[in-house]
Amino acid sequence: MAKRNTPSEPLARTHPLMRNSNAPMNRTLFLEPEDWERYAQLPTVDTLRAHGPVDNTIYVGDALEGLRLLPDASVDLVFADPPYFGLKKDFGYGTRKNPWKTLEDYMTWADAWIREARRVLLPHGAIYLCCGWESSGAMQTLLSHHFIVKNRLTWRREKGRGAARNWKNNMEDIWYAVVDEEAYLFHLNDVKIKKEIIAPYTNAEGQPKDWVETDEGERFRMTCPPNIWIDLTVPFWSMPENTPHPTQKPEKLVERCLLASSNPGGVVVDPFMGSGTTAAVAARLGRRFLGFEVYDDYVRLTLKRLER
Ligand SMILES: C[S@@+](CC[C@H](N)C(=O)[O-])C[C@H]1O[C@@H](n2cnc3c(N)ncnc32)[C@H](O)[C@@H]1O
Repeated sequence: MAKRNTPSEPLARTHPLMRNSNAPMNRTLFLEPEDWERYAQLPTVDTLRAHGPVDNTIYVGDALEGLRLLPDASVDLVFADPPYFGLKKDFGYGTRKNPWKTLEDYMTWADAWIREARRVLLPHGAIYLCCGWESSGAMQTLLSHHFIVKNRLTWRREKGRGAARNWKNNMEDIWYAVVDEEAYLFHLNDVKIKKEIIAPYTNAEGQPKDWVETDEGERFRMTCPPNIWIDLTVPFWSMPENTPHPTQKPEKLVERCLLASSNPGGVVVDPFMGSGTTAAVAARLGRRFLGFEVYDDYVRLTLKRLER
């Protein structure tokens, strides 16, 4: 078990996950001093090694080490949002820098954990792998060594600074790949998108052709979801799901992946749990989850988020 004392007063005032730090105000979910006592004892990868996996647990520790401890073919879905190559975000408040000097180093590391993700997945399983443009091309090639790559989802993310001598980065990719072409799940009806009808075609009897009209006169069709996602925002400070985590994914994005590619009761693994978005969505949708996160304070934040 990872132990941590209640932070001393000076640490408490400056801790980046606390409301009274320099972080912008109004974010909804912060750690409070008592949270270090409430969540003093956290399961670690050593706990996993000793007792085996327990549903709905996030283990403090390294993703690769943790994945290696999960049994073969025991997981329905992997949602992975690793630290991005090239991103200057510091998840550990200066205590730990991303260790990869080159894209090659990064891909060697990614190959090791993706191989493990493939091993733990069931035949009907799938992986969603988030990445930025810097590694996206290489990630597709790497994934294709272990999985059947089915699609590239591009999320238009309305945030970030412009660049003086480059195009502003407004996107992230999420590669979608499956274990077995014949066996993989895809619950299309659970992820169809509501689309307003512009040309209201009717059949010979004057009935709507593949669209519906409500009593209020709203005309729409449920259509297949596209692979460009322009309808999701980052979790802004005013949204209840917001936390101080620097690269938190929107719940809606994770929700879409889980709805399409897992059954209720299935096991979803997130090797890089961060603020716990995958855990929160899995719990809400009746899926089981397992995850890893190197920073114990993000696990505390996740436990608090799950309680809420
Ligand atoms: C991009 S963030 C994930 C954000 C998450 N999807 C969310 O919505 O909050 C990546 C996370 O992986 C963690 N991390 C970095 N290296 C790790 C490793 N080797 N094993 C486990 N977690 C790691 C970081 O601390 C960070 O919280």
